Amino acid sequence: MSAELVIRPMTAADLGSVMQMATALANVPRWSERSWQEAIKPPHIALVAADAAGLSAFAIATVAAGEAELQTLAVSAGQQRRGIARQLLSVVLAELRRASVAELWLEVRLSNAPAIALYRAFGFQETGRRRGYYSDPVEDALLMLLPLR
Ligand SMILES: CC(C)(COP(=O)(O)OP(=O)(O)OC[C@H]1O[C@@H](n2cnc3c(N)ncnc32)[C@H](O)[C@@H]1OP(=O)(O)O)[C@@H](O)C(=O)NCCC(=O)NCCS
Repeated sequence: MSAELVIRPMTAADLGSVMQMATALANVPRWSERSWQEAIKPPHIALVAADAAGLSAFAIATVAAGEAELQTLAVSAGQQRRGIARQLLSVVLAELRRASVAELWLEVRLSNAPAIALYRAFGFQETGRRRGYYSDPVEDALLMLLPLR
């Protein structure tokens, strides 16, 4: 865990680094530049984690009708297993609670054991599956839900 880690809103100036990080990682949505630009505007909550060396992680949640969906959460390969996702997700949850959001949903690849372990550790419950939701390779999505109240 880095002592100087700062978690702050993602800005347009971060998008180049964020897209570079996203391209290098599995299990991150392959969005267009336009989609990333939209992701830093309401109704999204977009955060990055950074230290003196630069960005190490990002998270985006979309809020609608009192519910939120975690669209993406990722930590750069060289910075994983240092508690960064844990810190970032804690701030996402705090922001959502502050916005009076009742529950957070997400979908995760069934084989993504690190992410599923992270979400379970935060108390997310498995509520179902979407058959063949992911492509390349085709795989089911696990649906997970965390009540926030
Ligand atoms: C999933 C991911 C975000 C975790 O980030 P991270 O910063 O390494 O996670 P943390 O160090 O904060 O770990 C928090 C907890 O998550 C779980 N976890 C994280 N990585 C794990 C791994 N490789 N294996 C098992 N459990 C893991 C553990 O419960 C861990 O707690 P612990 O270290 O006390 O055991 C990271 O692996 C990643 O970016 N993966 C690629 C993108 C991705 O899959 N995003 C999720 C899409 S739904």
